[in-house]
Amino acid sequence: MGQLPSTVFIQPMSRFEHRRLDPGNVRPRRTAFSFPQSIPKHWLKGSPVQTHFFNAINLFVVSFEDFMGRVMRGRLVHLKDPEFLRQVRGFMGQEATHSFVHTKYLSNLKAQGYQIDRYLEVAERVFRDLFEKKFGPTLCVAIIAGFEHMTALLAEIVLSSGMLKEAEPAMAELWEWHAAEEIEHKSLAFDLLQVTNKSYLLRLVGALLGALVVAGFIHVGMAMLLRQDRQLWRFRTLRDVRELLLGKHRMAPRALGLFIQYFRPRFHPAQHDNYSLAEPVLQAQEPEQEGFRTRTSLETVSLSAK
Ligand SMILES: [Fe+2]
Ligand SMILES: [Fe+2]
Repeated sequence: MGQLPSTVFIQPMSRFEHRRLDPGNVRPRRTAFSFPQSIPKHWLKGSPVQTHFFNAINLFVVSFEDFMGRVMRGRLVHLKDPEFLRQVRGFMGQEATHSFVHTKYLSNLKAQGYQIDRYLEVAERVFRDLFEKKFGPTLCVAIIAGFEHMTALLAEIVLSSGMLKEAEPAMAELWEWHAAEEIEHKSLAFDLLQVTNKSYLLRLVGALLGALVVAGFIHVGMAMLLRQDRQLWRFRTLRDVRELLLGKHRMAPRALGLFIQYFRPRFHPAQHDNYSLAEPVLQAQEPEQEGFRTRTSLETVSLSAK
């Protein structure tokens, strides 16, 4: 009898339903994410800067994705095309699931000692009391379309750079799943804006406000979390921020280049083909891995509950 290997690798259960990417049939995937307290505070390469880049997004997307759901639900009665209506409902289902899963991770941040309640409250007030109540539905749809362009371009950078390769596995899977679905549904908010109001000026205003939301909330969130770690005013932090934005992943210049595409008068999200980045994340598992899926208790998020 041969010797047993000293290390046994166990295939982890998948934390989300694997189904092929299908931008023409957007539907939420069932999920089974849980975030044990053993996940380290700095789960990405032990780096506070890289970890808090994602943590900061986690903090505000919960409120923003709920805001998207409320705005889009109000537009459903105006949609005459049943096929497009089905697609928008699928988009809303994906965003509701993202919000549901990211809300779970907020408990980890609180258990790690981060004071995040005030930040969450401000985000909720900006999206609900300012955007929704003062701006009106048409501008809100334009902001959502601009925001969705930003999330699709960030998803492209994250998936193409391999920056999650050394992340804690549950966190890597969380962000890869979210990024892949952002690419899958990237056209829906833009198409909804075209149905709502075709104004080029409105699209630009929405893009600028959407970019402001993303950049503003990420920067404030990162600064807040780094300050609570007592890492904000460190030379190493400045060096790591520079590396994140301008280093090997060239996040800032790539984001700017992709963002500018949105200003082309004839722009449409589907013109930029980045689906191949999302396909390997979402594709169906091989038959021999089927057992892992059937052992997983997957959750669905009810749209009406959000
Ligand atoms: Fe999302
Ligand atoms: Fe999205």
